[in-house]
Amino acid sequence: MKSQFPRQRVASESGSPVSLDPDELPDGLVIADETGCVVVFNAAAARVTGLSAESVLGRPLDEALPLEDLEGRRWWQLTDPYGGLDIRTRQPERNLLLPGPGGREVLVSVRYVREGRGPVQRVVVALRGTEARRRTERSHAELIATVAHELRSPLTSVKGFTATLLQKWERFTEDQKKLMLETVDADANRVTRLIAELLDISRIDSGRLEVRRQPVRLDAAVRRHVDGLVAAGVPEERFAVRVGEPLPLLWADADKIDQVLGNLLENAVRHGEGTVTIEVDPAKSEEATGRVREGTAVTVSDQGPGIPEESIPRVFTRFWRGSKRGGTGLGLYIVKGIVEAHGGTIRVDRGPEGGASFRFILPPGIPEVLA
Ligand SMILES: Nc1ncnc2c1ncn2[C@@H]1O[C@H](COP(=O)(O)OP(=O)(O)OP(=O)(O)O)[C@@H](O)[C@H]1O
Ligand SMILES: [Mg+2]
Repeated sequence: MKSQFPRQRVASESGSPVSLDPDELPDGLVIADETGCVVVFNAAAARVTGLSAESVLGRPLDEALPLEDLEGRRWWQLTDPYGGLDIRTRQPERNLLLPGPGGREVLVSVRYVREGRGPVQRVVVALRGTEARRRTERSHAELIATVAHELRSPLTSVKGFTATLLQKWERFTEDQKKLMLETVDADANRVTRLIAELLDISRIDSGRLEVRRQPVRLDAAVRRHVDGLVAAGVPEERFAVRVGEPLPLLWADADKIDQVLGNLLENAVRHGEGTVTIEVDPAKSEEATGRVREGTAVTVSDQGPGIPEESIPRVFTRFWRGSKRGGTGLGLYIVKGIVEAHGGTIRVDRGPEGGASFRFILPPGIPEVLA
């Protein structure tokens, strides 16, 4: 017996009706009528629970789907779907067990359909398998493993040098001691930087990245970064800065834009080759609302090997790194997070001279009261 739910005519976006068959739904759907009997049990529900529609349809919900919570209590008795408060309309998603030889875990959410405060007319149950959640948990576990690994190597080096210095202080010359301390210092910086990056990532992932806007001169910021790199020993001839006029007014978070420029320029110097060209131009920027405004674009291109075509979709993901030249592979993930928090966009292409060409566009970001 197939589910008894009729095909539904629903309006599609284009206005023409499409029919919806519950068996086409990706999630399990179980509906019990006002008497508590199961009237719909779609194909995904059968897949998630391992029960056949025949064994479920027409039977009371609590018998047909004997869910238990993780403490082993009978879920339907606990929640009393047809009783309970008359203002109750839903039960948020819970992780429950279906007893049986397989002992399946399912994610269950429930809607109680009622008119006003009247009796429950239908209980609609959505069922999902737990694979998706397992996958997220696995990716968290992988993230923790990667972070632990990234933190361990500099700390191992710090520990090694400090232990050696403490044990054999007298046996080293001043120069040797200085060299070791410099390495310890650099490794400590690496750990500090990694932790700062991880904090940024957690803010980006949880949508808590705050953008404190103020007027920003992007051309001046670019020149400041170039001067900084030159002062740090990168030859001045490696940079070419071009500024298109007139640049529109830009309101942005100056510190965060510095992070973006810092990473893109450092990447171009470290992972790229030849001349690094930085262009700052006025550019059309499309906002989420679809409104197009005059924004500012920055393009950083170099003459190095560029990003291989097949890796382009992965450059902005965390911990991806193409070359072995240092770095943790977090930079571009943070860059993208910051640009997007400003309502902007970023992309990478093959530059005119073969290298990588990163281009981000920021909307003007002028606060409503001033716009
Ligand atoms: N201009 C570039 N030319 C070639 N490859 C690049 C360029 N910029 C980035 N990449 C590649 O993209 C990878 C990811 O860059 P990302 O900035 O995210 O990390 P990273 O520079 O390795 O480390 P981090 O920035 O966290 O110190 C780099 O490891 C590098 O392989
Ligand atoms: Mg980087």
